[in-house]
Amino acid sequence: MTNTSLLTLVLAAGQGTRMKSRLPKVLHALAGRSMLGHVMETAKAAGAVKNALVVAPQMDAVRDYALQFDPNTQIFVQDPRLGTAHAVLAARQAIDDFQGHVIVLYGDTPLLTTQTLERMSAALEAGAGVAILGFDADDPSGYGRLLMDGNGELSAIREHRDASPEERKITFCNSGVIGFRSDIMLGLLDRIGNSNAKGEYYLTDAVEIARSDGIKRSTVTCDEQEVLGINTRRQLAAAEALLQSSLRIAVMDGGATLIDPDSVHLSFDTEIGQDVLIEPNVFFGPGVRVEDGVVIHGFCHMENARIGPGAEIGPYARLRPGADLGESVKIGNFVEVKKSVIERGAKVNHLTYIGDARVGSGANVGAGTIICNYDGFHKHQTDIGAGAFIGSNSALIAPINIGDGAYIGSGSVVSKDVPANSLVVTRAPRTEREDWALKFRAHNERIAAKKRNSAK
Ligand code: UD1
Ligand code: MG
Repeated sequence: MTNTSLLTLVLAAGQGTRMKSRLPKVLHALAGRSMLGHVMETAKAAGAVKNALVVAPQMDAVRDYALQFDPNTQIFVQDPRLGTAHAVLAARQAIDDFQGHVIVLYGDTPLLTTQTLERMSAALEAGAGVAILGFDADDPSGYGRLLMDGNGELSAIREHRDASPEERKITFCNSGVIGFRSDIMLGLLDRIGNSNAKGEYYLTDAVEIARSDGIKRSTVTCDEQEVLGINTRRQLAAAEALLQSSLRIAVMDGGATLIDPDSVHLSFDTEIGQDVLIEPNVFFGPGVRVEDGVVIHGFCHMENARIGPGAEIGPYARLRPGADLGESVKIGNFVEVKKSVIERGAKVNHLTYIGDARVGSGANVGAGTIICNYDGFHKHQTDIGAGAFIGSNSALIAPINIGDGAYIGSGSVVSKDVPANSLVVTRAPRTEREDWALKFRAHNERIAAKKRNSAK
């Protein structure tokens, strides 16, 4: 981080028509967070003290998202869309009011890292008036080419459409990330014209103008993958794959074993402790924390949940928001837990729904137990005491308290509180009739025979 204040300016006025979506492009998610969220987080992590966002008209959802992320975001509307320089100038007020470094980012380029952004700041800190983030492209077509002068300093950026055949051979390209010293920025941008192949105001023309003013231009380089722009769902999936692979590496480097990393889907904020074992086909939605020594068997789905040390879940467990599992808890196959605290050592091993509940330490919830927490209008609480035993196939109708150490007989439907250490069984009393089945069948066979005879 540098001493000079940083303003980031995120361009997001593109309509993203190639996504074929009602959702604005920058709100599509990667690893559980929108592209815009990734960009704004990177800006924040790199020390930006202010953030401005340029949107198109009718992008209220984008505006709302940005303000929710950071209520101090300054939002500007660009209308019509006349090019990247024109977009930046839509945020003129933010630039005018600011003293320091301004870095322009794209809302659809979400894999940019904090470190790279910090290197951009450092280039400006080292005296550049304009800093460009460049990369070596596998296939440079479509990108602006970075033209260097004899001293290895950037002389101009030539957009693909305006480039000569010679210039098109250059593979060193503009990522779109450009930084400026704020005191010279508007002076450069106000001189950018639109006499080019697209008839747009190109932000990239600032480089040539800076050169004629004798302002230092620096280039910072990064990997092509980091500045992958997303225009289509295929590119979204490609970026997701790259992000997933770096998230998995971080988890493994942190001391977790992923038996089949490619089949584990992580979120941007998944926290996984040491000596955690994760079997294949596991999905982590946002907000999951897994503590040390946990085993997650295959095919689990989790979001906004905590899994305490030494717990074991799955296969096929579903932890919904607010699932909070204590130490050494066991959650087995086809168990769903929502907004519930499962205390230390409790077991819920098979085919169960636990919602809006506390399950006390050491309690055992039998197979097929259902907590009936919803009456069609309201959700109600269930409290299961420490060491209680809930027999298989029981229904607990909330609100209800089951005391510590109580027993519920299998197949019970329990709607009133159960005192500690008592037994409750609500099954209907058993009826038994000897040879009833024989008589039943004989009776029905006689009727069937009569019908056959009368039909002849
Ligand atoms: C731009 C760069 C090019 C670079 C490439 C990297 C210019 C002139 N060209 O080209 O050098 O290699 O990105 O991907 O800057 N936007 C607006 N308003 C506008 C125009 C664009 O907000 O009027 C936003 C878009 O939403 C997008 C970004 O700016 O996020 C880039 O625009 P795009 O049209 O994709 O520029 P390219 O032609 O790809
Ligand atoms: Mg583009």
